[in-house]
Amino acid sequence: MTKLNGIKKINVAVFISGKGSNLENLIKSAKNKNSKFKISLIISNNSKALGLKFAKKFNIKKKIVNFTKTKLIEKNLLMDLKKKNINIICLAGFMKILSKNFIKRFNGKILNIHPSLLPKYKGLNTHLRVILNKERYSGCTVHFVNSKLDSGKIILQKKVKILKKDTVKSLAARVLIQEHALYPKALNKIINDL
Ligand code: GRF
Repeated sequence: MTKLNGIKKINVAVFISGKGSNLENLIKSAKNKNSKFKISLIISNNSKALGLKFAKKFNIKKKIVNFTKTKLIEKNLLMDLKKKNINIICLAGFMKILSKNFIKRFNGKILNIHPSLLPKYKGLNTHLRVILNKERYSGCTVHFVNSKLDSGKIILQKKVKILKKDTVKSLAARVLIQEHALYPKALNKIINDL
């Protein structure tokens, strides 16, 4: 926990692999007066992730972590998270699967955002699959992370209607707008329940 202008804020680390639009959105939401969290650390498995630029832009510490050499690296990462008093991890377009050990050892909550209405369409290529299956609705889900892919307890979901003319690109863009509204809302919700 960190005190900002006399208000207690929960320290959050965001894990990314790519563009980082959810990261940018969480950083901006954290600056809202009523927000209960602060983005204190950015972790990426990919040194070329575009989202890393937000570390410099918003003056947030970043770290590139090679998640393939698990045990020792995870131990160091857990130490970094502890040093920075990180209470919550938000996965945002993070393309690695965290080990059971890491999830168990991190003494806090881990959240993920997924671009479908879970439990439907876990995994990759969700937009393509929902369109091919002629679904009427898709959406996004913020959920807790457990050791099974996209399977932890659901915190919040938002439905998005699929249009006849939708392509993967147009649907992904409309779902992403809803992701940006949903993630900070879900984060503030679970902080209330902590
Ligand atoms: C989002 O659609 C998220 O739901 C999924 O990966 C995408 C990441 O986008 N897990 P960004 O990197 O936050 O822009």
